[in-house]
Amino acid sequence: MSTPVPTVPTPFPTVDVTAKARRNTPVAVVVMPVDRSGDAELGPGADRLDPDAVEAARATGKAGEVRQLPGNRWLVGIGDGEPRDWRRAGAALVRAVDANAAADHDAGRTVSRSLQVMMPPADNADRAAALAVGLVLGGYRFRVTGTRSAPRTSSVLLVVDEPERIAAGVRDAVTMAGATALARDLANMPSNVKDPVWLAGTAARLSSGIPGLATVVRDEAWLVEHGFGGVLAVGGGSATPPRLVELTWRPRGGSRAPHLVFIGKGVTFDTGGISIKPADGMHQMRTDMSGGAAVIAALLAIAAMKLPLRVTGLVPCAENHLSGSAYRPGDVVRHFGGRTTEVTNTDAEGRMLLADALAYAAQRHTPDAMVDVATLTGAMKISLGLRIGGLFASCDSLAARIGVAGERVGEAWWRMPLLADNAEDVRSQIADVRQCPGGPGAIAAALFLREFTGDRPWAHLDIAGPARSEATYDEVVPGGTGFAARTLVRLAADYV
Ligand code: BES
Ligand code: ZN
Ligand code: MN
Repeated sequence: MSTPVPTVPTPFPTVDVTAKARRNTPVAVVVMPVDRSGDAELGPGADRLDPDAVEAARATGKAGEVRQLPGNRWLVGIGDGEPRDWRRAGAALVRAVDANAAADHDAGRTVSRSLQVMMPPADNADRAAALAVGLVLGGYRFRVTGTRSAPRTSSVLLVVDEPERIAAGVRDAVTMAGATALARDLANMPSNVKDPVWLAGTAARLSSGIPGLATVVRDEAWLVEHGFGGVLAVGGGSATPPRLVELTWRPRGGSRAPHLVFIGKGVTFDTGGISIKPADGMHQMRTDMSGGAAVIAALLAIAAMKLPLRVTGLVPCAENHLSGSAYRPGDVVRHFGGRTTEVTNTDAEGRMLLADALAYAAQRHTPDAMVDVATLTGAMKISLGLRIGGLFASCDSLAARIGVAGERVGEAWWRMPLLADNAEDVRSQIADVRQCPGGPGAIAAALFLREFTGDRPWAHLDIAGPARSEATYDEVVPGGTGFAARTLVRLAADYV
């Protein structure tokens, strides 16, 4: 029997904005902090609450604290009301409602799949957007299963005083959260399904028929012809050949608009190759294409938002496996454009295929800026932990833009140095560059990549830490997190 895998993209709740509450739909009331005024500020549905419920509301208010009241009513606190609190509140609410629905379903009771959320009067677009991100992503899950799952929230209505003030922000937030959800789907797909051909084909399928978005999948013959030696080396040990996905977003009338190139590591599984990884934790390497997933998802969102700039997405896809045809430590590999790398560890495969893609982007597209995203080094994960991405940049203004974009969408970045003292370590005796120069691992990898950027404004996002989570927090659930997808979309939206 074939594996019953979910169809990608998996569905997520819709979020709409209205001034008029509906009858017979479960109601959640957003509760402002109790401790500031001593009084809870309640949303427009509060008049439906009985005095006991209002008492309960006063005791609520911590971000993400959810209380169920009789009659399918809920209270959710948003604490200090920072954007993160709103994301956390939306996520906690949808989780609580879904858990309740699952229990009702198991008990044979009817379940509503809609929810309306009464916003406090002083809401604004940023808060509503953050709440929407939490509502869309908090209930996310990905399971490969033979049993049917319980019904979950499929539509949410935000009830507010002035819908027109926040509708556009909420719509964009839902599009961006959808990009996160898709990036999670791609990362979570097991590698017995997700080989390079599947990943490239899925990108092509999802982008087909979208005006202004064109996707081309380059096969191994094209890669040989164009000298993508790094991609071919990494993919050479696998039974499934490598691919290069090129997604091109061109807005109408935008032929002179700024041009960004996003490049994502698309390693569909990383065994380490001949320099094989230990068995412990190797299964996590099915998410080693999370950077590529973020790029694919971002391009789809950018096209959906019809952003007025040119964006190209490049995702080199390969499986880093070991076999008689795998590349070896000691090999010298020629990249796109002619530069050569002395291989010392086949587990440093990400930089091998990114080098080709960066050189190709710089030469073929001469973009205004290029940004690569990759689960590149275990060293980065150790340095910053699991909730912050490492940001390297050859250009301060690009670094600043990425930092601001991340802050706006709830993805944190920490700037790392491209240390001059380590820059010469990437030189090799027998090739142009040395793959693993030693020293600080994440920085060494970034310095290696910089050699292929042709001095274009460039940033490198190492998401080895935050690309996956073991825990549930804020809008994140265990598994692939989709980290970086929203930052890329926000960066593009704010670029022009
Ligand atoms: N995909 C890994 C990096 C990684 C590790 C991502 C843990 C997420 C969690 C990457 O391909 C890798 O193996 N890097 C090596 C580089 C080393 C051989 C120079 C590493 O970090 O150990
Ligand atoms: Zn890897
Ligand atoms: Mn590796």
